[in-house]
Amino acid sequence: MLKTDPDSEFLRTLSVLYVEDEDEVRELLTRFLVRRFDKVDVAANGREGLELFRAGHHDIVITDVRMPVMDGLAMAAEIKSMEKETPVIVITAYNEHEYFMRAIEIGIDRYITKPIDPGQLLSAIQRSTRIHLQQREIAEAREATANALTQVVAVLARAIECRDPYTDGHQKRVSALAEAVAEAMGLPPEQVVGIRVGAAIHDIGKIRVPTEFLSMPRRLSDEEFTLIKSHVEAGIEILGDVSFPWPIGEMILQHHERLDGSGYPRGLKGDEICLGARIIAVADVVEAMSSDRPYRPAIGPQAAMDEIRTHRGSRYDAAVVDACLQLLEQDPLRYLAH
Ligand SMILES: [Fe+2]
Ligand SMILES: [Fe+2]
Repeated sequence: MLKTDPDSEFLRTLSVLYVEDEDEVRELLTRFLVRRFDKVDVAANGREGLELFRAGHHDIVITDVRMPVMDGLAMAAEIKSMEKETPVIVITAYNEHEYFMRAIEIGIDRYITKPIDPGQLLSAIQRSTRIHLQQREIAEAREATANALTQVVAVLARAIECRDPYTDGHQKRVSALAEAVAEAMGLPPEQVVGIRVGAAIHDIGKIRVPTEFLSMPRRLSDEEFTLIKSHVEAGIEILGDVSFPWPIGEMILQHHERLDGSGYPRGLKGDEICLGARIIAVADVVEAMSSDRPYRPAIGPQAAMDEIRTHRGSRYDAAVVDACLQLLEQDPLRYLAH
């Protein structure tokens, strides 16, 4: 029996596909495998094995070579063409060396020879799946970092909004709407998370704007408005050298830019504005128009939708507007203050 080490707990969680035509051998090895692995699927020939593989996920495939209906190497070739990364261990008899060249071409990971030594089989499984283990550890570490980051971002967002009761919850709602829009546009999950995080702190620079300007119960003078506008640059200054795995700085800096160049701070046009900022811009306008402000009551979701519809393709990205309108038409109360 293999010694217990940090890998053995991981080994138990693997899902195994085992293919062998000889009843006696199959029953014996199946009994051995089910004691060590949580999920073991067993087939009596290559065709059955392939059907099982197609039906469910397997971390490793162990197969005999010579079998009726479809042999082990033909099955392995199909499996490798579908999922190159899945390790395949072939069990061969000493006199089956003529298969070796074909096995190398297919990309078989390991061979063990009959009669099967269970210890040898386990260590072959362990070596073949080590990369799986490393990938899982990396994924877990990344998830933990992303969670910590999200929590810090949420605290920051609250800290900004505490100063200004009128925009309480603004970033949270913009973040939820921007995330839904990004998802509806079919963006990759990694990018969707980045847009959610960027939107959650898009107004972080407002922390530098004196509170009285934020809650002024009247329209602002040009000078005052210039001060408010400075929140986008202040935002990236505050974040400084924090290196996010997403272009958060650009999203913050560009969320008031408009496709036709009428936005600020740089008057960027079209694709010069990153996609995250184009999405946040639309979510930001819709949310802001739907909420009360010190100098005016809420303009309302209908007017907000009219605003982005009117300027679709001119101020606002057409694909973003379409996705946003579709979401709001389905369920406006889900994303907006009420
Ligand atoms: Fe802003
Ligand atoms: Fe905003």
